[in-house]
Amino acid sequence: MVTDPRSPASMPAEGAAAPGGLDVPSGPGLRPPTRTPPLVLVIFGASGDLTSRKILPALANLADRGRLADEFTVIGVARTEWTDEEFRQAALKDVPYAGERWRKLVERFRYVPGEYAATETFDRLKGLLAEADQEHGTAGNRVYYLATIPSVFDMVAEALAKEGCNVPGEGGQFARLVVEKPYGRDLESALDLDRSVHRAFDEDQIFRIDHYMGKETVQNVLALRFANAVFEPIWNRRYVEQVQITVSESLGVEHRGGFYESAGALRDIVQNHVMQVLALTLMEPPTGVDAQHIRDEKVKLLKAVDIPTPDEAVDKSVRGQYTHGVVDHVAVPGYREEEGVAPDSVTETYVALRLRVENWRWAGVPIYVRTGKRLPARVTEVALQFHRVPFLAFDGELSRQLRPNTLVLRIQPDEGISLNFGAKVPGEEFRVQSVAMNFLYDQVFHDARESDGYPRLLHDAMCGDPTLFIRTDEVEQAWRIVDPYLTAWSEPGGGLHFYPAGTWGPHIADLLLERSGDAWRIPEL
Ligand code: BG6
Repeated sequence: MVTDPRSPASMPAEGAAAPGGLDVPSGPGLRPPTRTPPLVLVIFGASGDLTSRKILPALANLADRGRLADEFTVIGVARTEWTDEEFRQAALKDVPYAGERWRKLVERFRYVPGEYAATETFDRLKGLLAEADQEHGTAGNRVYYLATIPSVFDMVAEALAKEGCNVPGEGGQFARLVVEKPYGRDLESALDLDRSVHRAFDEDQIFRIDHYMGKETVQNVLALRFANAVFEPIWNRRYVEQVQITVSESLGVEHRGGFYESAGALRDIVQNHVMQVLALTLMEPPTGVDAQHIRDEKVKLLKAVDIPTPDEAVDKSVRGQYTHGVVDHVAVPGYREEEGVAPDSVTETYVALRLRVENWRWAGVPIYVRTGKRLPARVTEVALQFHRVPFLAFDGELSRQLRPNTLVLRIQPDEGISLNFGAKVPGEEFRVQSVAMNFLYDQVFHDARESDGYPRLLHDAMCGDPTLFIRTDEVEQAWRIVDPYLTAWSEPGGGLHFYPAGTWGPHIADLLLERSGDAWRIPEL
């Protein structure tokens, strides 16, 4: 197979063996935007929710910003009996605000209705791929996007290989596979899935998506830590007393009750998004920003996260489920009353964990993480709370109430960074009060818009940059961390605690921190 011309010469060609997935090529790193090379994007699950809400809007965004090659087109594959024209109409309806370039591109879209297990589906696909190369100059390059239900990921990957679609078409340079989350439902199934996918594609062809990695403010964690001399000396156990990572959502499960029932908050958010944010926040400085260096450091960090026994897991975790309540002044139903949810469901919609990272930098620093649906607000943030001063010389109640210094990386919404510290209250008396110094992204970067991460990631996958994608050993390690909780919770005694919608989770989650004299932050709303 021919090497991607944009890749450094030292990198193995795509499709070259990547034993164990550990020595995969490093890729070009966090580089300036370019246009994609000529290619066909094949979306499996083209009539589904993910395609309509995320993939097509991301593509339209790239099209309108001129980030797609002229020699580019899309083939949708799904079980829905659509025609080319119906797929095109759906694509226009999904992105009503897109411009002329998008409308022109959509005219090229083709669609293959069919079962994922049927040879005819792939025969038809192969025919359309060859046509696309002829008509649109897509040069034998393919990116296959698995946006189907997860249970058919392995089937589609294997069928692609069986039909010879896991290598580029004639004269082509690459055939890549983009895989959505969830990647497995526990350690064992993730390893099984990985074995199947690796039978069909090599590790350097596989791009596992976690859309949090595409968010500007998640990437900004790297900039904050490694482009500023001031933070690095204090980014460790000597100065940091505790770390809190919060991914809070005010929405419920919406129309995804059926999916959520078999997932739950630990699989849906903690195993992927939280672990990625945690790894970037706590990892050692990489010696380069290319794919290999960054991902090596993330894996090293994840390997240092303490893996509890199932008994310890019960002790260090809280799982909850929302009951009816009020969010944003609106009365909302409880989880068990949502569509597609069993009336006696024990699926968790809230998780809190107390983790430890066992390395020199973080030994002894509790890492608290929590996520939940139907909490009071949508907020994702990382807060580093620093040790208090060893001795407080100031008198007065206000001074005694002084909060410890906290650095908050606000990932969404109101993206920014804030530092809390003590300042003198004006007046004759010497009193100190907590104040905040705030940096808000959109006040400085006026065209900063919150992105869901998909345009960036889709573009990177099409350009062959794996830096922001999840490597096989990362997925595996993240499952190793969360697996004991899944085991513990499936035993009697792995209890579920209820919380009214619109509150910060079950009360018992407070006790998880109170034991060590800590408390959850109330994010600024
Ligand atoms: C998805 C989860 O991965 O992330 C959803 O499946 C969740 O349940 C979503 O709502 C949150 O993403 P964001 O970008 O809105 O924080």
